[in-house]
Amino acid sequence: MEKKGKKTILAIETSCDDTGVAVLEFNSFTDKNPRIIFNLLSSQTKVHSPFGGVVPNLAAREHQKNLPILLNQALENTKQIPNFLAVTQGPGLIPALLVGVSAAKTLGFLLKKTIFPVNHLKGHLAAAFLTEENSTRPVDLKKIFPAIVLVVSGGHTEIVWAESWSKTKIIGETRDDAAGEAFDKAAKLLGLGYPGGPIISALAQEGNSQKFPLPRPMLQQKNYDFSFSGLKTALFYLLQEMKKKKEKLDGQLKQDIAASFQEAIVETLLGKTKKAISNFSPRSLILSGGVSANQSLRENFSALSKETKINFLLPPLAHCTDNAAMIALAAFFDKQHGAKAKNWSKIAAQANIRL
Ligand code: KG4
Ligand code: ZN
Repeated sequence: MEKKGKKTILAIETSCDDTGVAVLEFNSFTDKNPRIIFNLLSSQTKVHSPFGGVVPNLAAREHQKNLPILLNQALENTKQIPNFLAVTQGPGLIPALLVGVSAAKTLGFLLKKTIFPVNHLKGHLAAAFLTEENSTRPVDLKKIFPAIVLVVSGGHTEIVWAESWSKTKIIGETRDDAAGEAFDKAAKLLGLGYPGGPIISALAQEGNSQKFPLPRPMLQQKNYDFSFSGLKTALFYLLQEMKKKKEKLDGQLKQDIAASFQEAIVETLLGKTKKAISNFSPRSLILSGGVSANQSLRENFSALSKETKINFLLPPLAHCTDNAAMIALAAFFDKQHGAKAKNWSKIAAQANIRL
């Protein structure tokens, strides 16, 4: 059942609320252009939406229901037993991670295949090397690094100094809420549903970002850290004020609030990243994580890379939020940099691992 000369990695992603399975095909680990030949995602948005955020045990139940279906489709569709397996080992929600990791271990045991444990944040970084058409950019990683990477998602907001694919150091991170979490909480306060990022960014397009002067937390401080919980609190008090004055939260007002809120986040992310670029002089700027789907952030970061005359990499829209294609590619890059696939007995979920 294996295609001659070709190898595959089957990857599983269950760290949060998306169940993902993907298969990466390549000729050898020196292949400059590995291809995603299968990529399927089962979203749980509807399940978590009434709660305004992800409920870990519900996520685990959904993963357990959907993962075998996706795995079956991957095997039927690609008509081959993968040569390797890969699975997100963390960071993420432990009940959710355990479903993917247990499935990978079971497959590893039954198929007698080894497993690459993948850091979810490395997955987001790998997504910047995928194209919309599910192949990879034929890039030479050596020409990309060193890079300043902004990983900005629902669970993380980190500025990373990446000397190479395998040598990374977090130089700044959020002290409380992640940027995506701030979008989600703001949407909840505004009664807009979940996930908040896409809803707020759509509303922001028609809004006046100058209407409400919201804070740019920690922007003037010398470090590269963030704090977004105060921004959510500022929005809470703004809405309280409006309620007291009996102002109706109509369409235009919601759009103006969304635009003002989005701009506060984008300006803060941009300011800190700009500082990191000027102090570290990287060869490239890489934007990644679910919030990298935000159009305003994408445009502002693209302008920043032009202004500072460095390469700019970002995931295509289809691969910004969680998916298994990025996990498969991260495993491939990890292997290129000396990582070894392990026996199923050596694989464990780790909710709090860092880059
Ligand atoms: O990377 P991801 O899928 O999951 C985590 O690893 O956390 O990121 C999900 C986050 C959510 O908080 C969601 O609101 C945010 O990404 N997001 C956005 C946009 N699309 C998704 N935030 C702002 N603008 C968007 N267009
Ligand atoms: Zn993620």
